[in-house]
This record gives sequence, structure tokens and C-alpha cells, in this order.
Amino acid sequence: MFARIAGVGSYLPGPPLSNDDLKQRGVETNDEWIVSRTGIKSRHLADANCTSSDLALEASRKALVAAGIDASTLDLIIVATSTPDFIFPSTACLLQAKLGNHSAMAFDVQAVCSGFVYAMNIAEKFIRFGSHKKVLVVGAEVFSRILDWDDRSTCVLFGDGAGAVILEASENPGILASAAHADGAYHGILSVPGNVCGGKVIGDPFLRMDGQAVFKFAVRVLADVAQECCALAGILPTGIDWLIPHQANIRIIESTAKRVGIDMNKVIVTVDRHGNTSAASIPLALDAAVRDGRVQRGHKVLLEGVGGGFTWGAVLLEF
Ligand code: UT7
Repeated sequence: MFARIAGVGSYLPGPPLSNDDLKQRGVETNDEWIVSRTGIKSRHLADANCTSSDLALEASRKALVAAGIDASTLDLIIVATSTPDFIFPSTACLLQAKLGNHSAMAFDVQAVCSGFVYAMNIAEKFIRFGSHKKVLVVGAEVFSRILDWDDRSTCVLFGDGAGAVILEASENPGILASAAHADGAYHGILSVPGNVCGGKVIGDPFLRMDGQAVFKFAVRVLADVAQECCALAGILPTGIDWLIPHQANIRIIESTAKRVGIDMNKVIVTVDRHGNTSAASIPLALDAAVRDGRVQRGHKVLLEGVGGGFTWGAVLLEF
């Protein structure tokens, strides 16, 4: 029994905000620096009253329509997010309520930018085990909430959004292989090192990053895990139709493609217009490529992510 994608959807809040728009809002930066270092030209930012579950709801509705199923038939809902609506209940439970589903198992996965591939990996195991048949997997983030807008080295990099897929039990091929790893020894190079205690923020509530250390780490593990996942499925990287990597930086994406031996014309890139949307970046890119007709039924697609933790992982599937 395979876990097969039955439908994909995504949602971006508000109009795009250009690099010049950020400058006009008072960030000491310029378009040339951001584009040359990251490839980012614009991103979307949610209003203060819009939460991850709101974005997840819009993306999920589109994925349900694409799959042609009703939310009441879902038996598992997994939301990958590091910017949950509340400490608890989970964003998955809040999304479930908004969708009007009253019985599915629902929980969040917290693996930062690898969250979506972690969630797909987990969902596939529930389906292959035979206990669950219709699974909603979502990546949803409002990273704008945890950005220090006085730190130009991080605030220009991220955006908000959500992407969703419906995975169904099927005899036709779907997920062919997956791999996921973590090494908590690297927790310090990308983190939001704060918490809430007794009604007060303890530590630092903003995203902090050693950009160059993250860059080096990301390029290495993304290449390794892509090769690992292909080997598990018994396919050469050259046999992949589409690589959909986490969208953080065009230079990381290009280096990874080069190391793995995949031509850039087989790589889906949305970082230029979405920025880094953490757990939402891969399903947002997948949905863009499905809707513009590049990713088609029967294509072999490799999804891969890396993020805080440090975590990394990949999922190879036949669409
Ligand atoms: O999901 C994973 C999340 N994170 C990532 O993937 C990020 C990985 N790392 C990166 O993408 C890159 O390391 C960055 C884009 C974050 C930074 O690029 P870099 O080439 O490593 O630049 P840098 O940190 O060495 O900064 C160089 C200069 C500094 O100025 P000085 O000291 O050389 O005069 C910074 O102050 O660029 C300056 N700078 C900026 N200038 C204009 C930093 N941020 C900005 C900015 N606008 N927004």
C-alpha cells in the first residue's frame, strides 16, 4: 500500500512585499544585497490577527478540492509548524475545528524548516501500516511574528504562508522512500531561544542565526540526504523529474543541485517570490509547480528540507 498525493493546495497572505518595500518600512537594506546573497525579491507577510491555522485552513481547503474529498473523511491531520497559534492546543487541532472534522487524530510536528518532510515521512508510515487512509499534511508558518525587525541579517529572509497535501492509501505508487535525521548538537546556529514562564518571556523571543554556519551545514546535508533517499528507492538522482528543495536561499539550492548532479532546469524555485517560509516552503513550491503544469502524474519528485534543530530529511515520491 502506497501513500499517494491526491491533492495539493497553498495560500499566501496579502500582496507581495518587495525588498524596496522593506527598505521603505525602515529596514537598513537594499534590493541588490538581498537578491545577490539570497535570490529573494519579495515575500508575503500576514496581518497581526492572522494565525498559522488561518493560513493552513485556506491551503487545506484548496487541497481538499483538488483531491475531491470532504474534510469529514480525513482520519489524520498533521501540521508542521514552528509558529503555532498557541502553546496548546496544537495548530492541527485548531485547523481540525475550522475544517469541521470531529474525529481524526491530529497533532503538530516541530522540526522547523524540515517540518513538512518530517510530517510526510510520519504520515506515510501511518498509511503503510494500514491504520489511516486519508491524511492531511500541512506546513504553515507566520515567521514574521518571531523576526527581530532591527536585525537586517535575518528579517529580510523570511515570509509567511501555508501549503497542504492530501495523502491517500493507494495501490498505485506514491511515496517511494523517505529519510530523516537530526543532530541537536547544532541547536545554537539557528534558534528562537526563549520561552514563556509565569506570564513573562524568558530569554529571547526572536529568531537568531549564524547565517554562514547554517549555509555550510545546509549544503552538506541536503546533498547527502537527497543521495540517501534516491539510494533507498533504487533510483539515480538523474532519474528524478523534479527536485523541490526547502526554499531558503538560491545559492544553497544551486549548490545542492550541483552536488547531487541535478540540472537547475529540473529544480522548482519559489524563494524569489516567497522568501523562506520554513515548514511551508516545500508544499508552497510543490503546489506552484503542480498548478503551472510542470509536475505531472507519474513524475518522480524529490522533496527535501533542512532546518533548526538541526533537522533534515527527504521524501521521494511518484506524483
Ligand atoms: O531555513 C534555513 C534558514 N537559513 C538559511 O538558509 C540562511 C543560510 N545563510 C545565508 O543564506 C547567508 O549566510 C545570509 C544570506 C544570511 C548572509 O549572507 P552572507 O554572504 O553570509 O553575508 P554575511 O553574513 O557575511 O554579511 C556580510 C555583510 C555584513 O556587512 P560587513 O560587516 O561585511 O560590512 C552585514 O552587515 O552584509 C551585511 N548585511 C546586510 N546588508 C544589507 C547583512 N544583512 C544585510 C541586509 N542588507 N539585509
